[in-house]
Amino acid sequence: MAGNNVTITDNRNGNSAEFEILDPVVGNSSIDVRQLTSKLGLFTYDPGFQATASCKSDITYIDGDEGILRYRGYPIEQLANQSNYLEGSYLLMYGELPTAEQFQAFEASIKNHTIVHEGLMQFINGFHNDAHPMAMMVGVVGALSSFYHDSLDINNPAHRDLSAHRLLAKMPTIAALCYRHGNGLPPIYPRNDLSYIENLLHMMFSFPSEEYKISPIATRAMELVFILHADHEQNASTSTVRLSSSSGANPYACIAAGIASLWGPAHGGANEAVIRMLEEINDPAELPNYIARAKDKDDQYRLMGFGHRIYKNYDPRATIIRKACNDLLDEMEGINQPMFEIAKQLERIALEDEYFIERNLYPNVDFYSGIILKALDMPLNMFTVVFAMARTAGWISQWSEMMVDDEQRIGRPRQLYTGVELRDYVGVGER
Ligand code: ACO
Repeated sequence: MAGNNVTITDNRNGNSAEFEILDPVVGNSSIDVRQLTSKLGLFTYDPGFQATASCKSDITYIDGDEGILRYRGYPIEQLANQSNYLEGSYLLMYGELPTAEQFQAFEASIKNHTIVHEGLMQFINGFHNDAHPMAMMVGVVGALSSFYHDSLDINNPAHRDLSAHRLLAKMPTIAALCYRHGNGLPPIYPRNDLSYIENLLHMMFSFPSEEYKISPIATRAMELVFILHADHEQNASTSTVRLSSSSGANPYACIAAGIASLWGPAHGGANEAVIRMLEEINDPAELPNYIARAKDKDDQYRLMGFGHRIYKNYDPRATIIRKACNDLLDEMEGINQPMFEIAKQLERIALEDEYFIERNLYPNVDFYSGIILKALDMPLNMFTVVFAMARTAGWISQWSEMMVDDEQRIGRPRQLYTGVELRDYVGVGER
């Protein structure tokens, strides 16, 4: 084989083999190592998958060095400014921006599926009232598979589409129900005259006794948060969705697995962790101490909302949302909480500090989304739920893509075994 390949030689025994280099449309090429074990008896070792492409995908493109994010080829900046979450979801799911008729039909279908089975409400009522809403989301979304048996055949494209629409449609309803349960509030049903985001705000914050006025400022800010979080190629939660579904598990169970993965503070839990950090800092005079702790090798402390595995230049979503965050704080009268002042100072200090500059630790999207959600009075424990709702579009798109990918097999990583090689069992009395 000549040209588009690499030769790997095992210097221990001189064995060598050639492997094809697969070229993407844009971005890094990949060495096709699928035959590495059969040809050379070797595995690759890559904890955290820092150099491993786990699939081919047409959906989202990221260039971390250049700070580029595109959904289906469209720059995130254009989508953030000109599109909306539901249209972006269609784009992610079906590969093209919808025509007016396609969008109308899609929106109608999503609205048609927003209500959940009343039995699911009883399931939610079984949770203790101080349950974290993410804990509830993991359980409730997984439980959807016990209510919607008519769409569980993953080999049937119509079933897959129906499940995808149901998931996108029901996530805000479930999220709002979880929130209301935790606060002892009566459930509020969705309204078909409202947009996707307006409906979420309505279901979360309405009271049966009083009309809730949906703020256009809040709607606009939430649209932005949602579209910026809609997909991010093979991140931890998306990879979890793909890995779970590689075994043939149903989509509701797989999205529940994705929600569980998203919950961690190194991933979707970061927006909540940002506000907890700002609350803990409490006083701008304390900022130098916290910065020093973040820089101390012997201290596990990290500044939440700073750094990113992929974006080592800047996070393009952060650039967009930073402006929206500043506009929102300017626009909202009476928002002069010390926390927002601390956030601004922290951002400034970290951006000027050598430690953060050298390591390319910039504020990420969650630094600003956390601040926006706080300014909108979103309860803190719902922050990661907001992320989960938004990422649902990406999860179901990546899942749908995987379902028709002939090259996908059950996900089954190998390991570098470091345990005891072999020993004989010893009876309990002799140990
Ligand atoms: N505060 C202080 N130091 C940091 C931070 C931080 N937030 N993030 C990374 N570093 C330091 C590390 O200590 C390390 O320093 P060293 O080279 O001297 O050892 C260096 O920067 C590289 O860090 P890694 O952990 O190797 O970077 P990685 O790419 O594995 O981690 C991550 C990325 C998990 C996002 C990390 O930056 C982090 O924990 N950030 C805070 C949590 C956060 O905001 N997560 C949200 C991610 S965005 C999202 O999910 C949408």
